[in-house]
Amino acid sequence: MKPTHPAPLDLVIFGGAGDLSVRKLLPALYMAHLHGNLPEDTHIHALGRQAWDRQEFLRFIEDKVRGFIGAQAYRDEVWASFVNRLSYLRVDATEAVHYADLKAGMRPGAERVYYLATAPSLFVGICARLDAAGLIDEASRIVLEKPLGHDLASAQEINRDVGRYFQEHQIFRIDHYLGKETVQNLMVLRFGNSIFEPLWRSPHIRSVQITVAESVGVGSRAGFYDGTGAMRDMIQNHLLQLLCIVAMEPPVSLDPDAVRDEKLKVLRSLRPMSVADVARDTVRGQYTAGASQGEAAVGYLQEENIPPGSTTETFVALKAHINNWRWANVPFFLRTGKRMAARQSEIVIEFADLPFTVFGESPHRSVNRLMIRLQPEEHIQLQMMAKEPGSGMKLRPVKLDLDLQTAFSERRAEAYERLLIDVIKGRLTHFMRRDELEAAWAWVEPIINGWQQLGDKPRPYTAGTWGPAASSALMAREGGAWVEEA
Ligand code: BG6
Repeated sequence: MKPTHPAPLDLVIFGGAGDLSVRKLLPALYMAHLHGNLPEDTHIHALGRQAWDRQEFLRFIEDKVRGFIGAQAYRDEVWASFVNRLSYLRVDATEAVHYADLKAGMRPGAERVYYLATAPSLFVGICARLDAAGLIDEASRIVLEKPLGHDLASAQEINRDVGRYFQEHQIFRIDHYLGKETVQNLMVLRFGNSIFEPLWRSPHIRSVQITVAESVGVGSRAGFYDGTGAMRDMIQNHLLQLLCIVAMEPPVSLDPDAVRDEKLKVLRSLRPMSVADVARDTVRGQYTAGASQGEAAVGYLQEENIPPGSTTETFVALKAHINNWRWANVPFFLRTGKRMAARQSEIVIEFADLPFTVFGESPHRSVNRLMIRLQPEEHIQLQMMAKEPGSGMKLRPVKLDLDLQTAFSERRAEAYERLLIDVIKGRLTHFMRRDELEAAWAWVEPIINGWQQLGDKPRPYTAGTWGPAASSALMAREGGAWVEEA
């Protein structure tokens, strides 16, 4: 593909030698480079605290980053031309003097994109120092990584303070779930087809399940994770964004604000939870020793650097309601956890039960479901009932199966690659707007407070399972069950 971007671009990554940069950002930029999707005159400035010279930096990324590039995509000559686009600069983000060095390396007239892959506590200071160094102009953009705040007040504060230096249309709040192919495809499924829309509502839909299950544990991220937990790490952002896309009204266009207005309405329509609701409709869990993917796995409390007796949740299941006409009385069940039985992310739309069946013993519940699998593989299945061959009228569920990997031969870019290209092109549709982020916190915060008031302790679940039994009970009370098909 021919690059179309005219102006030179300086892409600056704060935290350029950090975990996110190594695992996601630099590999995504390599892929964009490989496929000719970076504007020709793009330069990437990786900033970090290590006092490395260029050779040391190159050795570091050679060691660390290459492993995250698929073997089929890696080529020596492409790598060599990619690293030509890269430079490393030692910058302590809290030191104003270092911004003069940064400025010296930036090209006059270039568009500037700042990617803040750092702790959120640094965001505002970085903006202030960029501003003081004269490094922000009208064409500059800033990308903010999650977690964007710890609660509503801290999110508001970040938004307000970053807003002093960048206008809203210059701010890209990233939620990488919005960059996943299947998540974007969900918009097409809903708004590019006519058959679902008439049924996409109460009472034709009985319930919606959204599961993001991970098989990995907390790994080396104890420092971050223990102060965060699954509610803030996953529900507040990824799962609520998925819920928005399932539940939103058709936007008037794909214009960023048209889409984000509709998502915002969903977030604002979420029924607030009282303490009694929290006690009844939410489940927190924490994994204990077990087995994951055939190997022994330690419990959360035995993971490296987790404080003894930590009550941080590694699992959350909850029942949410959306207070509007479309979704009246349709429960949305959300569930996420680490060290679960499989890495499986899925949205399941359960259509209404049959009012009556003429087929004797045949089921009349959960006969039609639409399953949208986001990972590990991407497919969409519609479960229908069919007659078993033979005499008699025995029914059996069968699946209409759309395997997106085989339906399209095109390469499927990783979420970060797609979102980075969006940032470069200034496309905001798949990024969160300020009010969206705050509305999500406004709904989540009372739940976290409710747990505190209730003195709620996470329920143990064995690593390698689907979470605490109470999560199945939450479903069973509504006469349902989590769909856990491999
Ligand atoms: C991140 C969370 O936002 O998403 C991690 O901080 C989690 O804890 C990750 O593992 C999951 O992303 P993915 O794309 O692997 O499902």
